[in-house]
Amino acid sequence: MGIRYDAEGQIFHLTAQNTSYLLQITEQGYLAHLYWGRKLRPGHYAHTLQKRDYFVSFSPNATPDVSLDILPQEYPAFGAGDFRNPAYQVQLENGSTVSEFVYREHRILKGKPQLEALPATYVEEDSEAETLEIVVEDKLTGLEAVLSYTVFERFDAITRSVRLINNGKESLRLLRALSASVDMPHAQYDLLHLSGSWARERHIQKRPLRPGMQGVESRRGSSSHMQNPFIALLSQGAGETHGDVYGFSLVYSGSFTAQAEVDQMFTARVSIGINPFDFTWLLNPGESFQTPEAVLVYSPEGLGGMSRTYHKLYRTRLCRGTYRDKERPVLINNWEATYFNFTADKIEAIAKVGTELGIELFVLDDGWFGHRDSDNSSLGDWFVDRKKLPEGLEDLVARVNRLGLGFGLWFEPEMISPDSELYRAHPDWCLHVPGRRRSEARQQLVLDYSRQDVRDYIVKTVSDILASAPITYVKWDMNRNMSEIGSALLPAERQRETAHRYMLGLYEVLERITSAFPKVLFESCSGGGGRFDPGMLYYMPQTWTSDDSDAVERLKIQYGTSIVYPVSTMGAHVSAVPNHQVGRVTSLETRANVAMAGNFGYELDLTVFTEEEKALVKAQVAQYKEIRHLVQFGDQYRLLSPFEGNKTAWIIVSEDKTEAALFFFRVLGEPYPGQFRLRLAGLDPNKDYKLADSGEVYGGDELMELGLPEPKGYGDFQSALVLLKEV
Ligand code: DGJ
Repeated sequence: MGIRYDAEGQIFHLTAQNTSYLLQITEQGYLAHLYWGRKLRPGHYAHTLQKRDYFVSFSPNATPDVSLDILPQEYPAFGAGDFRNPAYQVQLENGSTVSEFVYREHRILKGKPQLEALPATYVEEDSEAETLEIVVEDKLTGLEAVLSYTVFERFDAITRSVRLINNGKESLRLLRALSASVDMPHAQYDLLHLSGSWARERHIQKRPLRPGMQGVESRRGSSSHMQNPFIALLSQGAGETHGDVYGFSLVYSGSFTAQAEVDQMFTARVSIGINPFDFTWLLNPGESFQTPEAVLVYSPEGLGGMSRTYHKLYRTRLCRGTYRDKERPVLINNWEATYFNFTADKIEAIAKVGTELGIELFVLDDGWFGHRDSDNSSLGDWFVDRKKLPEGLEDLVARVNRLGLGFGLWFEPEMISPDSELYRAHPDWCLHVPGRRRSEARQQLVLDYSRQDVRDYIVKTVSDILASAPITYVKWDMNRNMSEIGSALLPAERQRETAHRYMLGLYEVLERITSAFPKVLFESCSGGGGRFDPGMLYYMPQTWTSDDSDAVERLKIQYGTSIVYPVSTMGAHVSAVPNHQVGRVTSLETRANVAMAGNFGYELDLTVFTEEEKALVKAQVAQYKEIRHLVQFGDQYRLLSPFEGNKTAWIIVSEDKTEAALFFFRVLGEPYPGQFRLRLAGLDPNKDYKLADSGEVYGGDELMELGLPEPKGYGDFQSALVLLKEV
């Protein structure tokens, strides 16, 4: 690992664990991209930048032998001859939008500086990483950009971010400020992204790159259910276990763009960052703007290799806090059991069965505050509803604690119901635009987190409740996207900053609350996985993966989510049948086998369970406790994709490869299935493993090369969880 500067060739050679990334300062001072991929030997750079020795019409010259339209660049501008997707654009007071960055200086630092006011990956010791900061400037305006690159010793990841500083004398307006741009040398790739909807998040989409723009974006003021802030390029023929894969992930929870543009020369420019759509940022002299961080991962071992790098990096150097390395409690949540209709006695009754079955935490979901008997009211009124809980929250927590369970509580602190005391007192505290309708979604509006007074109010209100009783878990929900995006306090020329200022405000609130309550386990949620992104994971180490709790639907959702995010970040619950989202009936066993590949819990009314069902739940909880260290901290290898067939499988292997949990699912029964063997992965070929159920012993090599016979089962929605231990 390290960063070298070759002064003669003006080349920077960045080396992550097994990856090289090369860039060069051209004679004219442009920052050119040379290479990203498998590690190269240092000091030998025959493949430096090619001089332009061919004629391309309609691509203006910057100098006789440089056309910016063709030059592979690190942080490209628009307006001086490069017609591809620019990384940034700035408007001067005279209205012009042309600028040009050239190299001024650079520094190489040990470790990784923190990003101001934004979530990012981090190091615990300076020896874990090195950072290159290249300063480029636009001489005419005095605009300066500090391009930061960090390489990690233990990960094939390179993080990039940019700080734009106005060192000039006049005000500038940023029209776009992306986090990273990479000019790939060709375009023979498939583009992979994670797209969907509410209750159908992060389905894998893959298509070949074609000339022109392609990619994903969110304009919703949040990363969204519909698109995840991530894309990957897969070299031709690359798959789960082989081939070059390049991942681009953005540590941000707001509107984003992630695009690949194939140009006239059949090269591909990949750009990722805050969505420039409906965004501007006024930069007065002396002011600066920090972009979010992009995390670039290269894997020569296919998609699986890329995923495992993201998993480990995000689990250990993005997530923070007490629970980063701690096993997560098995919980029972009352949402799908009661919805808004509960009493303290009902909660206690569910908790009582929970404790008998080994569950460790009770989570009280929506409906405990204001007069919230439906989703029509009360968001913002964070005081207990005495009709439902006459003795108050403290009493209920004590009752649940007495049963031996921890207590968790649901909040939706970014929202305000028009029917609330808060709204009646502060009608200007929501995002809104003068004279326009305030469009409601789920009968609620979005609080204006760009305002300090709103943020202070929320921090105090939530903190007071958390301090009022021993609450050990918080589910932080957010149930609508932004419309009429405007703030009552921002001047006209800063209105288009509102959405990003909201995100900065949210991050400030989360930092203040999570650091004031370090022992609380925070789970983020946005109508399920509407904000399942690295930005939120920096503050809260787990996310409610989807409001769709059907076991079959969850296969695709959890498999798709695992492309970037580790199992330890996914909330997964067993819910009632017929399933409330899709009406499907699956066995309790299969529901649990799906949910055990996540932070496990139940979300149903345990008080109506038969003795037989309770016995099964008890056994499931005990089994999860036995394997959760493995599930939450092991390495995941995907084996069969639910997007490609009737069967799904993955295996989670401990770091030392002494044990593993194999998850297998067959959605529909197969009449005459033929011979099929499931080849495992990630095991040590030289170790022998015993299968917990059958007692059979196999070599790791045998399991990976020859495989196991397909687990048996009759009927639809069959599954198996097979535990393997080294003998
Ligand atoms: C949406 C969440 O995803 C659900 O789990 C539940 O908490 C509801 N909100 C409550 O309103």
